[in-house]
Amino acid sequence: MIQTLLGGLSARDFLAQYWQKKPLLVRGAIPDFQGVFDRASLLDLACDEDVESRMVWHQNDAWQLARGPFRPSDFKRRRDAWSVLVSGANLMSEPADALLRRFSFIPQARLDDLMVSYATPGGGVGPHFDSYDVFLLQGAGVRRWQIGKQRDLSLIEGAPLRILRDFRPSHEWDLQPGDMLYLPPRYAHNGIALSDCMTYSIGFRAPATQELAEGFLSFLQEELELKGRYADPDLKLARHPAALPEDMIDQVSEMLARIRWGRADVARFLGRYLSEPKAHVFFDPPERPLTEKAFVTACTRRGFALDLKTQLLFRGKQLYLNGEVEDPPSSLLKRLQKLADLRCLAGSDLDPEICSYLFVWYNAGFGMPSKGGKDF
Ligand code: SIN
Ligand code: CO
Repeated sequence: MIQTLLGGLSARDFLAQYWQKKPLLVRGAIPDFQGVFDRASLLDLACDEDVESRMVWHQNDAWQLARGPFRPSDFKRRRDAWSVLVSGANLMSEPADALLRRFSFIPQARLDDLMVSYATPGGGVGPHFDSYDVFLLQGAGVRRWQIGKQRDLSLIEGAPLRILRDFRPSHEWDLQPGDMLYLPPRYAHNGIALSDCMTYSIGFRAPATQELAEGFLSFLQEELELKGRYADPDLKLARHPAALPEDMIDQVSEMLARIRWGRADVARFLGRYLSEPKAHVFFDPPERPLTEKAFVTACTRRGFALDLKTQLLFRGKQLYLNGEVEDPPSSLLKRLQKLADLRCLAGSDLDPEICSYLFVWYNAGFGMPSKGGKDF
C-alpha cells in the first residue's frame, strides 16, 4: 500500500531520494480516492468556531484573505473565484485522521496536520512557498500545479498572504483525484483549480531554532529549581551608590551558570512541546461518564481509542500526553507505547490494571472505549 502511495517506491527509498530533497509526482497514489469531505461538509467545518479556517480570493487585482469561522452566506453569490482552507481537519473527522495516518512512515513528532481546501474553478491561494514538507493529494476535481525551484523567494509586500513576487515555474501538471505531489520545504508552487476542486495537504512541522529556544526557555522556567540566594557578607563601601558592583555581576554569573541541562531535559521538553495541542484545541470530557467498572467492561470488550485531538508520544519509560509528562508503571509501558503508535488498543490488550490507568484519560476526554467491533 505504501508503495502505491509513493509511486512504487518503498518508504525507505522515498526518504533517501526525495524527502527534503526534491519533488515527487505520484499518479494514482490512492487509486479511486473519493476524498474524505464533500463540499458541504467541508464548508460546515469552516463555519465551526473550534476549527481554524481561511478564505482566499483575488479581487481588483489584489489577494484577499478572511479568517473563519464563516457563515454559510459567506460562500454564496461570490463573483470571483475563491478558496476555503480548513486546517486540522484530522482533529474533526475519523476518516481524515485515517488519511493522515497513512503517512506513519514519518515519525508523529514531525507530523503537523491535514489541511483540506475547496476551490471554485480558477481558485487557489496564489504562488508561494511553504517552510515545511507537504504531500498535496488531489481529492475531487482537477487542480493544475505549477512548481519551480527558484532562488528568489521574495514576497509581494503588503499582501495579506504570502505571495511570491516573481514566480517562475519549471513544471506543470494537472492532478486528477488520487494523484499526489510531494514538495520539499521552500519549493515554489501554485495550485489553480480547473474545476470545483478539493486538495488534501498532509503537512509536517519543523520548528525554527528561535521557536524551539523560546519554548525551551519557558520549559526551563517551569521546571527549574535552583537553591541559594544572593549574599555579600564582604560588601565594600559604596563610593558611587548608583554604580552596579562588579562583585555582584561575578556572583550572579556564577548563579546563572548553575542552569544546566542534558539530553534527558531536551527529550522531556521536546515531548511536552510536540505533544502540546494547538491553542484552539479543547477536549470534551464525557458528559455522562461511565463508572470505572463499566469502563473496564467496555474496554475489554471493544478496545480503547485515543481521541482524535490527543497527541501521545513516548521515549523510553516516559510518555508525553497532550503537553504533559507521564511516568506509567513499567507493567503498562509496552501496551501504552503500542497505543501511542497505533492510537488504539484491542480489547485483548486490556486488563483491569491498564483500564484503571486509562480511566483517568477517559475522564479528561483524551480517549474512550472503541466504538464498534469486538477486537481489531
Ligand atoms: C491549497 O490547497 O489550495 C493550497 C495548498 C498549498 O499550496 O500548500
Ligand atoms: Co503551499
